[in-house]
Amino acid sequence: MKSKLFSPLSFGAIELKSRIVMAPMTRSRATADNIPTDLMAEYYGQRAGAGLIITEGTSPSPNGLGYPRIPGIYSAEQVAGWKKVTDAVHEKGGHIFVQIMHTGRVGHVSNLPAGAAVLAPSAITCKGQIFSDTEGMVDISAPREFTIEEVKATVTEYVTAAKNAIAAGFDGVEFHGANGYLIEQFISPATNQRTDEYGGDIVARSRFLLEIITKAAAEIGKDKIGIRFSPYGAFNDMPAYDEIDKTYTYLAEKLNELGILYVHVLDHSSMGAPAVPQEIKDSIRSIFKNKLILGGGFDKEKAEAAIENGSADLIAFGKPFVSNPDLVTRLQKDAELAPPDFSTLYTPGVKGYSDYPFLQEA
Ligand SMILES: Cc1cc2nc3c(=O)[nH]c(=O)nc-3n(C[C@H](O)[C@H](O)[C@H](O)COP(=O)(O)O)c2cc1C
Repeated sequence: MKSKLFSPLSFGAIELKSRIVMAPMTRSRATADNIPTDLMAEYYGQRAGAGLIITEGTSPSPNGLGYPRIPGIYSAEQVAGWKKVTDAVHEKGGHIFVQIMHTGRVGHVSNLPAGAAVLAPSAITCKGQIFSDTEGMVDISAPREFTIEEVKATVTEYVTAAKNAIAAGFDGVEFHGANGYLIEQFISPATNQRTDEYGGDIVARSRFLLEIITKAAAEIGKDKIGIRFSPYGAFNDMPAYDEIDKTYTYLAEKLNELGILYVHVLDHSSMGAPAVPQEIKDSIRSIFKNKLILGGGFDKEKAEAAIENGSADLIAFGKPFVSNPDLVTRLQKDAELAPPDFSTLYTPGVKGYSDYPFLQEA
């Protein structure tokens, strides 16, 4: 019997070849001024065998470019660069969503373009270090608190980014609400201590995200929108808090009412973070009726089990896609997987990026 993992899935307005998703992965191959390159088109085109590609985190704003050489999607040049990427993937019969990521307080001033700033819901510095092309490893910059006008302008930046994504040929967008970046900085009371309508109880802390989704859905359609969460993920100095379960239950209810296409839950336990408790995954699954993607530490066996037992509709693979452009074929054939070279994950150029061989070449 053909495994369900490799069977097609109707996904909003599109039909996916399989339930295997290439997880969003920052690779820092855009230009120094954050424009997607021909090399990126080649890399994503090589991986078009995935059921769905979700791109690396891509900033809706100059203020969201906390890392070097990550792409943006707020200027005409960036949209034109992304058009080459979506064309390369569509020409090979693939589908691709862009992940919209604003780094918020996770950044360094030397990585930002002139005039941009490290901004956050509250002026609480993220403990840790970050890479800067000009200065090497540096302490993460202290953020300035957004004014309320800046919060509203940032919501508009996300919505414009979603419109730009459709103009660039993407099949949809995933808002990055995971891993301690801006949306999660608003959701968590550890990083959001605002006293205006965007801070306080669960409803207020969820407002930033829900406004973005409501407005983006009105512009591009709810069936082109997904969201990524990492409840209990400690990455980027995000401590656990009492109301985590209640927060994500509330969000699942609201997102279900809004009728977006998918929720993507990431479990970082395979990378040493606390596991996402099964109860949270189960409650999101039961409340949110549309598609659920699970990601983090999956292999073929675990992925098939999760699809067969109904705990997810799609499974995201991250690191295996770095070093296996034809991952789906390899999984189907039970072929050996090449290991990724961790030293070239974020370095410029072809090496460790578009030079991993396909099976027949290996
Ligand atoms: C090099 C690298 C870059 C990543 N960048 C992102 C990112 O931009 N956005 C995101 O949501 N997750 C990012 N992640 C997390 C992955 O999407 C994925 O969830 C994680 O690697 C765990 O899945 P895996 O065990 O299949 O690799 C990144 C992971 C890696 C290895």
